[in-house]
Amino acid sequence: MADAIQVPRGTFDILPADSVARARVYSAAATLFELAGYGRIETPAFEDTQLFARGVGEGTDIVHKEMFTFTDQGDRSLTLRPEATAAVCRAYIEHGMHRLPQPVKLWSWGPFFRHERPQAGRFRQFHQLNAEAIGSDLPLVDAELIMLLDDLLRGLGVPGLKLRLSSLGTPASRVAYREELLAYLREHDDELSPEVRERMAENPLRAFDSKDPGTRAAMAQAPRLIDQLEQADAEHFAEVRSLLDQAGVEYVLDGTLVRGLDYYTRTVFEFESERLDAQAATIGGGGRYDGLVEALGGPPASGCGWAGGIERILLAVAEPQPDPVADVFVAAPETQAASAFALVHELRNAGLRAELDLAGRSLKGQMKHANRLGARRTVILDEQGAAEVRDMQSGEQTALDLARAAEALSR
Ligand code: HAM
Repeated sequence: MADAIQVPRGTFDILPADSVARARVYSAAATLFELAGYGRIETPAFEDTQLFARGVGEGTDIVHKEMFTFTDQGDRSLTLRPEATAAVCRAYIEHGMHRLPQPVKLWSWGPFFRHERPQAGRFRQFHQLNAEAIGSDLPLVDAELIMLLDDLLRGLGVPGLKLRLSSLGTPASRVAYREELLAYLREHDDELSPEVRERMAENPLRAFDSKDPGTRAAMAQAPRLIDQLEQADAEHFAEVRSLLDQAGVEYVLDGTLVRGLDYYTRTVFEFESERLDAQAATIGGGGRYDGLVEALGGPPASGCGWAGGIERILLAVAEPQPDPVADVFVAAPETQAASAFALVHELRNAGLRAELDLAGRSLKGQMKHANRLGARRTVILDEQGAAEVRDMQSGEQTALDLARAAEALSR
C-alpha cells in the first residue's frame, strides 16, 4: 500500500458528525443577522497581498509572519485571507457602497488562514463569523455590534463568558502615548522578555499581551491609553458604555486590551470563555476602524465590526450532537430495488428523510441497517411489490397502500 497522505499541519477535516453543531451556529447567526438587517457578503479566499499589508498593518504578527503568501503564474503576489475586515472594506470601495444608505451592514462566514503554531483552538485554516457596519461613527453602531455578538454567544450557550472592553483613541492621540509607553519600556528593559524587547520599538502596545511573568509584572504599572483619551474619544467611549449598560450587556473595562491588528480606532473588545485554554481563550473580538476604508483608497468612511472563531465557539459549547435520524427506511429484496428507489424519491419530494440500501444487503441486513440509522419507520417491500410499514420502536407492522405512501408516512 502507498503511504497515506494526511491533512497539512494545523488544518482539519469537518466530518458529518461535526457538521450538525456547525450548522446550528450558522443558522443562529443567519437568523440574528436577518433580524438586525445585515446582508450576507462573500469575498474571495485570496486577495492582493497589498490589501492585508496596508489594511492589517506591516507591524502586526499576522502580516509579519503568519500570512500564506504566494506568487501566481502572472507574477502577482497573492495571500490567502488571514481575516475579513480589509476584504470587506475593499468590496465596499470596489462596489461604490458609500452611495447606499449608511451604514452598510454586512456579515460573512468562511475559512481564514494564518501560519500560527497549532494547538487546541488555534489552527492554520480556521473559520470565522464576521460582522461589519461601514459608514457611521455613532456609538450606537459599536454598542449594537457588541450586543449582537453577546446575544449570539449567549444564545448558543457558551459558558463562562467575559467581555473585555477598551478604547484605543485615534491614531493621532496614540502617537504621544506610544512615545510615553516606549520610554517606560526602556526604563524597565531588564524586566521584559527578549521577544517583547526585540519588537517593542515596532509595536510597544504588544507588551500588554505578553504571557511572560516578568513582562506582566512590569506592565502592571505601565501608563494606559484609556486614561488619556482625547475628549471626543472619551465621550464616544462613555456613550458606548452607557448604551451597553442600558441594554444589560455586562463587560469589564480593561485598559490592557490590545488587538493584533493595526486598523483599530476608539472602541475595541474581546469575548473570552473560561471553558477554553488561556492561550486561545478569545472566542471573538473586534472594534472600530475609522481610517481603514480611506487607507485602502476609498472615501472617508468609519467602520466597526467583529469576528467570532467558529472552532472556539464549538470547543466552548462542546455538547454532543445527536446524529440526524431517518424518518423512513425503505427495505426491499433485490427484485424490488427499482420500486424502492422510486418510493424513496417520492418520499423525499414529500419532505421526508428517506433512505434505502445502497450496499446490496440482504433483507435481514437491511432491517439491521435501518435500526442503526435510527429510522422511525421501515417500509418493507415483498417480492410481489406489496408493502408493509414497521414502527421501529414498537415493532408493530401494518399494511401500506403504496399509492398513498407519502401521505400515510407523513403522519
Ligand atoms: P481576530 O481577533 O484576529 O480579529 O480574530 C477573531 C477571532 O477569530 C478570534 O477571537 C478567534 O476566536 C478566531 N481566530 C483567530 N485566529 C485563529 C486561529 N489561528 N485558529 C482558530 N481561531 C482563530 C479579526 O480577525 C478581525 N478581522 C475582527 C474584526 C472584524 N475587527 C473588526 N471587524
